[in-house]
Amino acid sequence: MDSAPLPRPGAASRAPFGRRRCEVASNRDSGGYRVVSLVDREGPEPEPGQFYMLAAATGWGARDGRAFLPRAISVAETMPAAGGGIRLDFLLDAVGPGTGRLCDLEAGEGVWIVGPLGNAFASPREVAPGAAGAVLVGGGVGGAPLALQRKRFAERGIAHRVLLGFRDRAHTGGLDLFCGSSGALCPEVRLATEDGSQGVQGRVTDLLLPILAGDDAASGVIYTCGPPAMLEAIRALCAEHGVSCELALESPMACGFGACFGCAVPKPGGGFLRLCIDGPVLRGDAVEEVSHAYA
Ligand SMILES: Cc1cc2nc3c(=O)[nH]c(=O)nc-3n(C[C@H](O)[C@H](O)[C@H](O)COP(=O)(O)OP(=O)(O)OC[C@H]3O[C@@H](n4cnc5c(N)ncnc54)[C@H](O)[C@@H]3O)c2cc1C
Ligand code: FES
Repeated sequence: MDSAPLPRPGAASRAPFGRRRCEVASNRDSGGYRVVSLVDREGPEPEPGQFYMLAAATGWGARDGRAFLPRAISVAETMPAAGGGIRLDFLLDAVGPGTGRLCDLEAGEGVWIVGPLGNAFASPREVAPGAAGAVLVGGGVGGAPLALQRKRFAERGIAHRVLLGFRDRAHTGGLDLFCGSSGALCPEVRLATEDGSQGVQGRVTDLLLPILAGDDAASGVIYTCGPPAMLEAIRALCAEHGVSCELALESPMACGFGACFGCAVPKPGGGFLRLCIDGPVLRGDAVEEVSHAYA
């Protein structure tokens, strides 16, 4: 393995100069998605919003022998690993060959990781000085970084609510990441499904709107991750109601640490930012329109 030193624990937004091999501890179903757990014996603890570049140690390439690039995946859960190090959980949606291979990983297989990468969500007071709490709004696999953020808020006693949107009951992947140790859904979580089969019928923005329209809306910060159309709707609603928000965004990434410019997206007013090092978390007012730039 590459032997250059790793950064000190907790150092956000710096790429560790060391690709390291981890072992798969488990791979389980989560409502149509997979949760793959790796054991990282050497790396620092990641912050919510950060991501890793993952590549299976074997079978990582096309049938013609061409190797895949690593794939960017947000960390959804962390905990101390038995025998030392950190267990890292990733919520995976198999949308193509790379995520498909990662979803098929079996316990004991090797995975090359680089990370934690990118910046993390800020605390509510860092985003808006008067903010007392937070609302986390997730859609689909976008629930992953919010699950870790919810856990940190609970540990630090920061008031929060969670709004999650899914297509229907059969597609609620990642919902178990928002359950307590008893297996019951955390009481602060509210659900919306498009067909009404679980929670309120409608979109997650239908749950958010009454909160944004409330008298105390500006005392909270909205944290969100999900499909570009959902993020754009939330960005625009927050701007309209004068509420601060942070968006965890995606763009195709080749390196993950600032070297290739593959993830460059336009900045309002001109210029570009590299989403892997300037993001993936951006303030709502740093983004002109999500759907065009980040789809
Ligand atoms: C910071 C970050 C965090 C991410 N976190 C997660 C996560 O927690 N779980 C998860 O399942 N996925 C996550 N993704 C998305 C994941 O990286 C892509 O789905 C993956 O790279 C697709 O690779 P593939 O070979 O499976 O499919 P490909 O064949 O590469 O792509 C399949 C389809 O997905 C589209 N696509 C590919 N990459 C992206 C991307 N980055 N954003 C949007 N669309 C894309 C392609 O245009 C194509 O339509 C994240 C991406 C980023 C940038
Ligand atoms: S992914 Fe290479 S610069 Fe961002």
